[in-house]
Amino acid sequence: MPKKVLVTHQLPGERIRELSRYCEMNVWMDTGLLSAEALREELAGCHGLLCLLTDRVDRELLDAVPTLEFVSSMSVGVDHVDVDALTARGIALGHTPGVLVDTTADTAMALMLAAARRVVEADHFVRMGNWTPQNAWAPDFFTGKDVSGATLGIIGLGDIGQAVARRAAGFGMEVLAWNRSPREVAGVTMVTLEELLARSDFVSVHVALNDGTRGLLDKKRIALMKADSVLVNTARGGIVDEAALAAALSSGRLAAAGIDVFEREPVAMDNPLLALPNVVVAPHIGSASIRTRARMADVAADNAIAALTGERMPCCFNP
Ligand code: DGY
Repeated sequence: MPKKVLVTHQLPGERIRELSRYCEMNVWMDTGLLSAEALREELAGCHGLLCLLTDRVDRELLDAVPTLEFVSSMSVGVDHVDVDALTARGIALGHTPGVLVDTTADTAMALMLAAARRVVEADHFVRMGNWTPQNAWAPDFFTGKDVSGATLGIIGLGDIGQAVARRAAGFGMEVLAWNRSPREVAGVTMVTLEELLARSDFVSVHVALNDGTRGLLDKKRIALMKADSVLVNTARGGIVDEAALAAALSSGRLAAAGIDVFEREPVAMDNPLLALPNVVVAPHIGSASIRTRARMADVAADNAIAALTGERMPCCFNP
């Protein structure tokens, strides 16, 4: 009897077809989010789950599906999964590191530049018909902050943080970084988190969300950020206190922010960050290039194939 695998969305890439040769594959064909109830129902009796970061894999789900042998998530982050519960049950967890590094680093730079140079504000200005002879080019017209030559503080110097550091070097930036365990990376000065916040004109977040980083940039640490600095977050919303950030931005203490990720996604329309013109927002598109999404799907499919054939997943998150 072939093993049963639930795939929670239609996936790009080549390897998903290969996966169907190793199992009885049930692909959820609807668009949009799969509710917790639907996930539980669809997963009943399955041995494997190939999911997205929008699918919550918690104890309740695991208790309801005792047949589950592996979970392969098409994401590098696994904060939507109760890793300890999986590990305790001997359920392998696959994820997709590596393939999204450059695309996510590009997104961080895009948000940094857009927030610093007020690109979205300027776009709205033109489209709204406000660019008139009375309101035209002037010495202070849409002036923002220079990225070139500024100091960048990178929180989390893993693969994506290092890819951002390489890009920043091209902009002539001084690069500071903080990482939980010390790292030696050419062109990057390791500092304490407090020093990073106090010295950086731009701060970019690249740590994973876990118990150690939830709320890392809280009200107290946001207050340590250099006046007129810019925060970029392409990691996870839960790392930053959104209310404290919004307060610092609306008071003018911070210049701007570029935010791709929110504590609650999709973001609620009454989130205070959305009301601020100096915040550039995006709907969690850090890894959203056609090529990278196909590569992520391929890694996720390969993790699932390995689990089905009794091998260790090539990108296994749990020990
Ligand atoms: C991930 O894979 O965790 C990213 O957030 C997707 O963009």
